[in-house]
Amino acid sequence: MKTKTHRALECSALFATAALLLTACGSSGGSGNGGEAGTSFQGRGPITYVAGKDTTGVVPKVIARWNAQHPKEKVTFVQLPTDADSQRQQMIQNAETKSDAYTVLSLDVVWTSEFAAHQWVDRLPENQFPLGKMLKPVVETAKYRGGLYAVPASSDGGLLYYRTDLLSKAGISAPPTTWSEMTADCAEVRKKVPAAKGMSCYAGQFQKYEGLTVNFAEAVDSAGGVVTDASGKPNVDTPAARKGLDFLTGSFKDGSIPKEAITYQEEDSRQAFQSGKVMFLRNWPYVYSLAGKGKLAGKFAVAPLPGLNGPGSSSLGGHNLALSSFAKNKATALDFMKFFSSEESAGTFLKDASLAPPYADLYDKAALVGRYPYLPVLKQSILHAVPRPRVVQYGDVTSAIQREAYAALNGSKSSAQALKDLQGALQKSTAQ
Ligand code: GLC
Repeated sequence: MKTKTHRALECSALFATAALLLTACGSSGGSGNGGEAGTSFQGRGPITYVAGKDTTGVVPKVIARWNAQHPKEKVTFVQLPTDADSQRQQMIQNAETKSDAYTVLSLDVVWTSEFAAHQWVDRLPENQFPLGKMLKPVVETAKYRGGLYAVPASSDGGLLYYRTDLLSKAGISAPPTTWSEMTADCAEVRKKVPAAKGMSCYAGQFQKYEGLTVNFAEAVDSAGGVVTDASGKPNVDTPAARKGLDFLTGSFKDGSIPKEAITYQEEDSRQAFQSGKVMFLRNWPYVYSLAGKGKLAGKFAVAPLPGLNGPGSSSLGGHNLALSSFAKNKATALDFMKFFSSEESAGTFLKDASLAPPYADLYDKAALVGRYPYLPVLKQSILHAVPRPRVVQYGDVTSAIQREAYAALNGSKSSAQALKDLQGALQKSTAQ
């Protein structure tokens, strides 16, 4: 939800760049190179779908389904690196050279404003997608200045994965809801379960990349703080934010989080959980399916993220499909986007890879909940998730967060100094 002040902030930041000012803040919302939304998507033929590396195996399967039905409009899957920052860089490079190599882009939810404001992606016709059936906060991530610039394909909410086998051996019947309960549970498990003696308590994603922005924001939000306030203004130099960051720095110091977690992205932390290095893991829903196929099958469950004084909150994640302004065969692209973001495809992504669907009713179907018991927890996680700053200059914002959070975690700065410096940097990058 973009408030007037928030838009004003974004646009005032754009004033610095005259070219952008004319295109993004000038009139009533811009329409990208596609003209009036949806009227000029022309051309049929082969296209590409560009996304981060598929760790689930399901994407090629869904694309093959399309290709079998559209032999003259085949989709080639271009896989970029796994980390979000490298994906963003490659997509921006493609846009800056106006290359037609990328057609449909899998945009991280946090990039919509940046890609739309620069007119790297086309504005889409809203009436051609079943947005009314999707979770509202998820649809919001695809909008910029009131226009639709992407269509939700999968959502994401942070979950706490925990070892039911270890907890029950230690006589603990429910997952922790606070950080201190989690730490106490770990101590109890270590005391009562000899096999868990050498295990660390918790891991998330703490390498210097987008995942650190997510984990930092979650810690701050889960302690009652904010990174930016409701009007989009940075407000991170506060006692509450400090408690959140201190939970992470303190956990690194006392070993609750293993030292090597400073190098973890999603996949490294999943391995750490699956190989028995940690008892609790913060990660996205895709882990449910993969961990369920490994040696932890039947030995883990998920719960809402814990927080300082009660349940914490997740950062809103996910990916939306956008159409590169520089692409050819846009009529094919639009049809493929409808297919790939359909409820049927979302059902396949859920069943095969436990990806979070944008569609509200897939969370409530008894048959699905029976098979995927995490769905109710996930729905709540997504509905209450906190969006990361929704700004055109997201690249600057996330690198400031990554730099300062990393400095606090590796001990080169105090939490207090890191938050002070971060507040200054965020004020600068969102300055009027
Ligand atoms: C997941 C989320 C995405 C987030 C990324 C961080 O892919 O869906 O929104 O930015 O993780 O690593």
